[in-house]
Amino acid sequence: MSKIPQSTIDEVLSRADIESVVGKYVSFTKRTGQNLFGLCPFHSEKTPSFSVSPQKGIYKCFGCQKYGNSIGFIMEIEKLSFPEAVKYLGDRYGVVVEWGEDDAEGAGNLKERKKQVMNILTDAAGYYYKALNSDVGKAARDYAAKRQLSRNTLVKFGIGFAPDGFDNLYRYLKNKGYKDEDLKDSGLFTTARNGNLIDLFRGRLMVPIFDAFGHIVAFGGRNLGPELPKYVNSPDSLVYKKQKHLYALNYAKLAKSKQLIIVEGYMDAIAMHQAGVNNAVAALGTAFTENQLQLASKYAEEVVFFFDSDGAGKNAAVRASKMMLAYLRRMTGIKIRIRIASVPNGKDPDEYIKTNGVESFKSVVKGAKDVNDYLFSRAYDDNYDPESGLDQTRFQEDIITYGSWLYDPIKREKMAAQAAQYLGARSETIVAAMERAENDADSAERSMAERASERENEAQIKKRRETSSDKPKADVVTRDEIELFVRAVRLGPVLGDASKVDRNDVIRKNDFMGQNMRDIVGFFQTHYDERSGVSEAVLITKLSEVLLNGIPAEQFYHRVDEALPEEPTPEANVDMYKKSLYGVRCKKCAGELLKIQSLIRETDDEAQKKELIARSEKLDKYYQHLQEESSKL
Ligand code: UTP
Ligand code: MN
Repeated sequence: MSKIPQSTIDEVLSRADIESVVGKYVSFTKRTGQNLFGLCPFHSEKTPSFSVSPQKGIYKCFGCQKYGNSIGFIMEIEKLSFPEAVKYLGDRYGVVVEWGEDDAEGAGNLKERKKQVMNILTDAAGYYYKALNSDVGKAARDYAAKRQLSRNTLVKFGIGFAPDGFDNLYRYLKNKGYKDEDLKDSGLFTTARNGNLIDLFRGRLMVPIFDAFGHIVAFGGRNLGPELPKYVNSPDSLVYKKQKHLYALNYAKLAKSKQLIIVEGYMDAIAMHQAGVNNAVAALGTAFTENQLQLASKYAEEVVFFFDSDGAGKNAAVRASKMMLAYLRRMTGIKIRIRIASVPNGKDPDEYIKTNGVESFKSVVKGAKDVNDYLFSRAYDDNYDPESGLDQTRFQEDIITYGSWLYDPIKREKMAAQAAQYLGARSETIVAAMERAENDADSAERSMAERASERENEAQIKKRRETSSDKPKADVVTRDEIELFVRAVRLGPVLGDASKVDRNDVIRKNDFMGQNMRDIVGFFQTHYDERSGVSEAVLITKLSEVLLNGIPAEQFYHRVDEALPEEPTPEANVDMYKKSLYGVRCKKCAGELLKIQSLIRETDDEAQKKELIARSEKLDKYYQHLQEESSKL
């Protein structure tokens, strides 16, 4: 359960309106009544089944059934935890999100730990930097000179040296007063068998990894000689998720270029900045990720990739293209042009700039191909042999696969038309084959997504069982009860207006049998606002903690809400609400009457019998009254 105060969550939900939150990722193409529609960002599809209700503050996909409020959307799409998502939205919509400091495992403590790790990393960078420029740093300075790293570059990128030895950095940081547990969190150490901490980086040229704001979050270390491994990099940590960073973005973003050049290695990026190509970033040795593309799209309208030109590099280029095309197809709200460049004769950008100069490099950038053209050349070049010519079967297979990834019909048609010349087939036939391949891939993906969401659902149910109320059958709710609750929520401010709904006719906790439903009603009461009632988006924060009849409560609620027709007039809505309420109260009353009557039959104690009869008469009167009121509606 979150330690963020509910009032903060409410504030975030009221400011982070669902339309603008989702609109960053999805472009809405249709409006039906109150709802906006677009392509679902969670699964691939060609007709919009993803809807957003600005009025209710929720999103819902009719295809993959995903459903929630803006916090849930951010959790899902940015792969964040609940408190992280609240913080993320808080930052964007100007709500200060404070985490409780009381909980040892809680987020407040986490914040402290992160701060401490950042301090350690900054001190470590200072240590490495000094070492490079002192006596022990001679070999590393020679290496840097061999790589033609200028004085300016060493300073600008904070490059340093980790001397040989097992605990140089450890002792330095201990002297500064850091505790072992914090040093462990920093990712700068490994633990020896005897439990001692050992420097991870030894005898390496050290490159601090900055985040987009210039904070040091990790390090990479290059061996000075040919021994392997060539590079050692910080592991992921509290402050570093390598899949979410682009090296040198802190500098590249200052270039204010509409273009980012993305290379594989940080040494390449450094060389490029030194040569004056100041919009270069590095992907940090991972396969390029969705997160990195999204990050790039915040700063640029176009990315130009350099992959290694060996076989592995080409495969990486094709895989990255597939990932990016799929991502951009789903995220219709994210627009970025993708181009892929190839450095002639197998060099990497670093070497190329050094041998051919920056102007020549810039013309390579200019000549980068759009991703669709790049894929066409891949299909052609990979299946062309100077001796035997083009392998038509393989070429056709590749073209159909690559064409199926293109979401832009014009680009697809263009690729098909180009391929048609080599295949002796009509381009319409090729486009049709691409579409079939796309549909096959879509349905495979859909069933995978369905299975994943089933598993997720089961995990949720298990988790909520474990943390829920220990009262037996806490999750029970009848159809009538849930309908009553839905109608109460729908009344909004009208429910609190005594001229329209009598005080006695406002739902209470004990109108409901199950403990979970009572808790939900309690939440509803404390969040009730005279002017707006309680929105579904706010309600979800409570519903998301419990089960109703064995399924996640928010799903149950939403299903009933969808199925229950809206009455034609506001008055009719009030009447239907009351009818619902009297129905539920009648049933409860009837149940109690039955219980009392059997008690009356069983007891021999005359005084008690008398008392029970009096109670049953009173209940009976109340029952009659409810029936009468109900029939007036
Ligand atoms: P490369 O082998 O192409 O290295 O790996 P490079 O950037 O050209 O390095 P130099 O010029 O020989 O110094 C590309 C990237 O893959 C990651 C690094 O991030 C590197 O920049 N890598 C490579 C590792 O993490 N570990 C390795 O052992 C090798
Ligand atoms: Mn290199």
